[in-house]
Amino acid sequence: MGYDTIRFHEKMTFLVTGAAGFIGSNLTEALLRLGVRVRAMDNFAAGKRDNLAACADSPRFELIEGDICDGEVCRKACEGADYVLHQAALGSVPRSVKFPLIYEKNNIQGTLNLFEAARCSGSVRRVVYASSSSVYGDAAQLPKIEGEEGRLLSPYAVTKCVNELYGQLYTQLYHLDCIGLRYFNVFGPRQDPHSQYAAVIPIFARQLLAGEAPTIFGDGETSRDFTYIENVIEANLKACLAPAEACGEAFNIAYGQRFTLNEVYRKMCETFGVRIDPVYGPEREGDIRHSLADISKARRLLGYDPSWSFDRGFEAAAAWYRKYLGQECEL
Ligand SMILES: NC(=O)c1ccc[n+]([C@@H]2O[C@H](COP(=O)([O-])OP(=O)(O)OC[C@H]3O[C@@H](n4cnc5c(N)ncnc54)[C@H](O)[C@@H]3O)[C@@H](O)[C@H]2O)c1
Repeated sequence: MGYDTIRFHEKMTFLVTGAAGFIGSNLTEALLRLGVRVRAMDNFAAGKRDNLAACADSPRFELIEGDICDGEVCRKACEGADYVLHQAALGSVPRSVKFPLIYEKNNIQGTLNLFEAARCSGSVRRVVYASSSSVYGDAAQLPKIEGEEGRLLSPYAVTKCVNELYGQLYTQLYHLDCIGLRYFNVFGPRQDPHSQYAAVIPIFARQLLAGEAPTIFGDGETSRDFTYIENVIEANLKACLAPAEACGEAFNIAYGQRFTLNEVYRKMCETFGVRIDPVYGPEREGDIRHSLADISKARRLLGYDPSWSFDRGFEAAAAWYRKYLGQECEL
């Protein structure tokens, strides 16, 4: 279980894009712990320098402040790299609905630049890139299984879907190994609670720790397969080492259990030791009702075996939120 037994040669260089973000910074730290070299790339559009503060002292850490929309920067970043873990993207479904052109440029052209740079580098042996459960669109069937996607519901989802098409194409046409990971509602330390487009767990955490009542949109019976960051790290590392048949494919990366927002809310109140009733607001447009991943394909081809349940993950995330938000809640 987990990734404790994974070993890479210490001379291996990993390029992590989006390294100053939530997932990228956790990945960067995990790689440095494993003893490899990490080249971190970010344009700091959303990422924070603080997220990489603990890595900066390592002699195996290098930072490239640059944009994946710049092909030349991508070429330099890929030079001599062995693996690329591509996390850089603009997130947020609602924002993509407002600004589709920005998403097209950043997430599609940016990713294509990176695939192309990896292809031309002569050194990159594999690209593992972040996709998203949003590619399932309006497919109502549960659990979600790769190959059974519905109609896409946002420009963000289109960008992830196009990334997957290019990942498949680059594997097939240019023999550049690409593996897509469809993350489902990731949570954990360093997920930004302050952004206007913050995810539900950090928003609840911030408000509960401030003694405020969070708003639950709809009746709270909407459910999600919340996935702790350590499971996502495991998936990325295992994807680097997976057999050739995994290349050109995309995989659901989740824990494989769903909780309603009401359940998550109750668990969070318990962990923080607070009693605050939530406020219920109107349903949010475009939200799908339920999400749950079938993770058998990732288990089979990547050897993915997630060991961090929601409860275990939230205990760890809560400790970080308490510290980060500078508050201790008392019963
Ligand atoms: N967090 C989730 O629940 C979730 C779910 C599904 C998919 N994903 C995907 O996982 C990846 C990482 O997400 P995250 O939650 O860490 O988001 P994040 O916003 O915390 O991190 C993304 C990082 O990419 C950087 N970035 C954006 N555009 C860039 C560009 N043009 N050039 C260089 N850097 C750029 C940002 O500055 C940021 O540091 C993204 O591709 C996202 O779409 C995340």
